Amino acid sequence: MTVAGMDGIDLSENEFWALPLAERAAAFARLRAEERPRFYAEPEVPFTDKGPGYYALVRHADVVEASRYHDVFCSGQGATNIPDLPVEFNEYFGSMINMDDPRHSRLRRIVSRAFTPRMIAKFEDDVRRAATAIVDDLLATGPCDFVPNVAARLPLKIICDMMGIPGDQYDMVLANSNIILSGADPEFLSEDADEAVTRLLGAGQALADLVTGLAAARTEARAHSPAGAPAEDLVSALVTANIDGEQLTSAELASFFILLVVAGNETTRTALSHALMLFTEFPDQRALLLADTEGRIEGAVEEIVRYSSPVTFMRRTLTQDYAMNGQAYRKGDKVVLYYYSANRDEAVFADPERFDITRSPNPHVGYGAVGRHFCLGAHLARRELTVMLRELLTRVPDITAGEPDRLLSSFVNGIKRLPCDFSG
Ligand code: HEM
Repeated sequence: MTVAGMDGIDLSENEFWALPLAERAAAFARLRAEERPRFYAEPEVPFTDKGPGYYALVRHADVVEASRYHDVFCSGQGATNIPDLPVEFNEYFGSMINMDDPRHSRLRRIVSRAFTPRMIAKFEDDVRRAATAIVDDLLATGPCDFVPNVAARLPLKIICDMMGIPGDQYDMVLANSNIILSGADPEFLSEDADEAVTRLLGAGQALADLVTGLAAARTEARAHSPAGAPAEDLVSALVTANIDGEQLTSAELASFFILLVVAGNETTRTALSHALMLFTEFPDQRALLLADTEGRIEGAVEEIVRYSSPVTFMRRTLTQDYAMNGQAYRKGDKVVLYYYSANRDEAVFADPERFDITRSPNPHVGYGAVGRHFCLGAHLARRELTVMLRELLTRVPDITAGEPDRLLSSFVNGIKRLPCDFSG
């Protein structure tokens, strides 16, 4: 076992995640070149005991295998955090991404039925209209901060529309999802442990209250509607979804809702911000896309997600002893699947630091690798990114990004602020 941190590559240290992106990528290349995954001590977190440490899975083959064998590599002890979550967090943050079968399958079955083709088709029209309005506003505003003015707006509006959340609640939803995914960034979370926990739980409570209120209103409206017809939004579908007589409990509804707003907002926003940075850094790729937008946009969206890897990692815990690619793991070991690194694995991607919108095949694992927990919103995210980038780059073809202000987080590759410029 290689003990980590000796050469300054310590994935548990905030300093590592503050490195310039090129240095971060170079460090992961060094880890991939090593014979075995490194074992790291866990990061110090204020609200829970320090756990036993974790193996850093940095190669594509390891990430794919650990995602495929969900019986061996489980999510139920925590997928979104390296330390185990204290019980009081589970009420809000313990939805299906942090669950195993049979609870995971049951929840995924219920919510998948709510993502009907009809529902998705309705979102697609909304996405198109929203993207047009966002670019209209951008042209009227002029050069500005791309994150709140463009990148954050589309995913926020779409997820809120899906849920039937009224427009006057958008800011509150965004502010609370920012707190939940704030990583170690002092702009969002206090360095004082008690205060940080209180803020996190407060953000969870605020979102839970919002959905509980919406669900009660839907149930009430349904009882009073002559046909008993539910409103056409996801909350209504979730309230009325019924698999073998099962429905979501109100706690399940609240934590699923929190997962959706957090997963649906931050990730897609991050991908859009990176897209502008990438088309600024690689103008030849912008020209290539503009020369055949319809033919190349889908490939461009996949390459943006590969290159930026908005979600940096997920964790799994071994349910039994297991050997994988020459490394023996013991029951109870934690492994962290670094999608950011797997998406740069030279064994799979030629010249991985090159942003190439024509890359084919592109078996990236930005939405997770194939397995039980593969991103539920991947289809929606692809639609949002495709529609928004097509609208933006065809109507504002000379838009460029300035210096990004990055989120300090090991979990999401977030961008807080990004100046943009264009002659319009
Ligand atoms: C570019 C955008 C996105 C990226 C990069 C992304 C990435 C991911 C990743 C890496 C996972 C975990 C896979 C695993 O543990 O194996 C995941 C799961 C999930 N994502 Fe996404 N996601 C994106 C957009 C969305 C959107 C728009 C939604 C919702 C509308 C969403 C909802 C979910 C949910 C509910 C899960 C949990 C699925 C499960 O545990 O069964 N995601 N996503």
